[in-house]
Amino acid sequence: MKKLIYSLFVLFFITSCQNSNLTEKEKFIDNLISQMTIAEKAGQMNQYNGFWDATGPMPEGDYQKKRYNELKNGQVGSMLNVIGVEEIRALQKIAVEETRLGIPLIFGHDVIHGYKTMFPIPLAESSSWDLELMQKSARIAATEASADGLNWTFAPMVDISRDARWGRVMEGAGEDPFLGSLIAKARVRGFQGEDLSEVNTIVACAKHFAGYGFSEAGRDYNTTDFNHYTLHNTIMPPFKAAVDAGVRTFMNSFNTLDEIPATGHKHIQRDILKGDWNFDGFIVSDWGSIDQMIPHGFASNGEHAAELAVIAGSDMDMESSLYVSKLVGLVESGKVNEELLDDAVRRILRVKYELGLFDDPYKYCDQDRSDSELGSEENMMVALDAAKKSIVLLKNDNGLLPLKKQNQKIAIIGQLANDKNSTLGNWRSQVEYNSAVSVVEGMKKYKGNKTIYQKGVDLYYGETNFHNRVKINFKDKSDFGKAKLAAATSDVVIMVLGEEGHQSGEGRSRTNIDLPGLQKELLKEIKKVNKNIVLVVMSGRPLDLTWEDVNIPAIVQAWQLGSKSGDAIAQVLYGDYNPSGKLTMSFPRNVGQVPVYYNFKNTGRPSTSIEQVTNSGYADVENSPLYSFGYGLSYTEFKYSDFEISSSTMTKDSKINASIRVTNTGNYKGEEVVQLYLRDIVGSIARPMKELKGFEKIELNPGESKIVNFEIENSLLEFYSYNNVWESEPGKFHVFIGTDSNVRDHKEFYLTN
Ligand code: GLC
Repeated sequence: MKKLIYSLFVLFFITSCQNSNLTEKEKFIDNLISQMTIAEKAGQMNQYNGFWDATGPMPEGDYQKKRYNELKNGQVGSMLNVIGVEEIRALQKIAVEETRLGIPLIFGHDVIHGYKTMFPIPLAESSSWDLELMQKSARIAATEASADGLNWTFAPMVDISRDARWGRVMEGAGEDPFLGSLIAKARVRGFQGEDLSEVNTIVACAKHFAGYGFSEAGRDYNTTDFNHYTLHNTIMPPFKAAVDAGVRTFMNSFNTLDEIPATGHKHIQRDILKGDWNFDGFIVSDWGSIDQMIPHGFASNGEHAAELAVIAGSDMDMESSLYVSKLVGLVESGKVNEELLDDAVRRILRVKYELGLFDDPYKYCDQDRSDSELGSEENMMVALDAAKKSIVLLKNDNGLLPLKKQNQKIAIIGQLANDKNSTLGNWRSQVEYNSAVSVVEGMKKYKGNKTIYQKGVDLYYGETNFHNRVKINFKDKSDFGKAKLAAATSDVVIMVLGEEGHQSGEGRSRTNIDLPGLQKELLKEIKKVNKNIVLVVMSGRPLDLTWEDVNIPAIVQAWQLGSKSGDAIAQVLYGDYNPSGKLTMSFPRNVGQVPVYYNFKNTGRPSTSIEQVTNSGYADVENSPLYSFGYGLSYTEFKYSDFEISSSTMTKDSKINASIRVTNTGNYKGEEVVQLYLRDIVGSIARPMKELKGFEKIELNPGESKIVNFEIENSLLEFYSYNNVWESEPGKFHVFIGTDSNVRDHKEFYLTN
């Protein structure tokens, strides 16, 4: 290390006069690059998985010895999935003290919804519509991960998706670009904090760039097929928001767009991200995605894939081993200009510099911090708050909820009710297995009632993990009888049904989005003996709850809520927390309706009824989803009145104020997400029926009311137009303010030139 500092200091002194207008950071980086061989540059662009716990397919053979040698030769720039201060320090020591230039490694990991303290899966947390909370949970995740030696997370995943068949919807923030953009900013700021050189901040990574959420038929890794207006108006905004929030890395995606693999897509990576958006961080490929351009039929071999990827602007190669093995030859043969490597290496070194790794490459390796920060009670309390606010009340007939706290006999039924593992969700980083609070444990803390538990049926059997399919039980109903007996002799039945935590996430596409296994059959049997059923749904995606919506009086969407799941669910069911969640992704009536989303286009033959044969509808279900974007009930009621706008015309330089009075007309204090939607009636391209353009989460006591104001300015009217620019277009607009995207009542105004 001393050698590196001395030689750099000398270089500094000599060259500092030459380029005094460069910042110290850029001078340092330029000086370092000037010393690097082509092989060392290729090495900085090479990322390997730790030597265990891969999150993707691993190469065959004795790769570990080869990789250690490359590490010692300065041919590794980053590693992922190396866990723990001891391991990270050991590998960093090799890079810093045994290589020629001593350039530190950057260590990445999927810290998606927590590190040791597990927060709700991102799709759940997005249902809180609480940006401050989402920033706070990312901050805690960063504090824990950095305490354990890590300096980079592969999050936030900002893929917009409208397809519940795609298992990775659990990682995102749903179907809307406006909300998705605000959540992207909140999470980037949470992970990166105010100063990346602080020891409790980590680099964030906006992924997967781009269009991965539009995988055809919801089949993971599949091709996509959308036009460039969808790209710019729907898919890109959260990525641009992440750049505006200062995100320092991007990850590209497995899919093709415009029939080109994103990893080899020069236009989105160089023209848009690095060009138009002036992004000066770096892009890491997704796992093996450079090599995968061969099966895509876009590259003829590994050398060709490396050439295409580096030219397209992919700066770091995750687990293809193609940059480290092919770039030297490509540069020496003249197929690739060395300046492309210099640009990529400069970006990588820039982020390492901003982390402070050159000042102290071991700064993140503090075992005492690790011991004190990870899974602290304080962090767990934030996880509980996030879990409660992520729960969405979908139905509550006859005020079955909240439950009475005294003298009730309550049957709790379902394998997931007693499961301390599944509710941790997929992408669970370093949380201990079976460490969550179960629903049974949470409910038993309420001592005023008699609570009995019966499994009823196994949803799944055996161990579950990231790599293998969950084994679903389709045969064994032997526990139905005991569950029916428990239900028949109880006042209320809490049925906890849904997906096991690894039934959603990467590689978990499903063509059937019903309650899996024998759960629905059990539910129907229980209903025969007791109608007072509260269905608690645990899932990583919207499920088809159409039968349940007709036949079950109370339904709570409880996602996978993380470490404090059972406490959160119990506190909501007993009314100690009045549910305030609102869906950020539409729930379809059945899988045949997918993709279904609120900001749809009207078509030339809009349908309002299944009786209209020659209109754009189905013969068997309505076009509307079962539960819409923005929908979520409360134990209280809110009345909307006095809807006003300040003017019926506006110019690009003026503003309109839209306001509404919201009154709590019920008996409980409650929170309400008041939502503002706009509709651009006529555009140079067909425009959505409505678009979310603002929201405010308010809390009202019974009888209390509040006027909620929204400012409508030109930026809210802009879209990526036929002219391929972001602009607003004069004409008629409708403005809606309501409790969800079903709102119909609107005001009209005109944007004039
Ligand atoms: C996976 C995922 C990506 C993740 C990466 C590292 O294949 O697609 O989201 O960050 O590999 O685990």
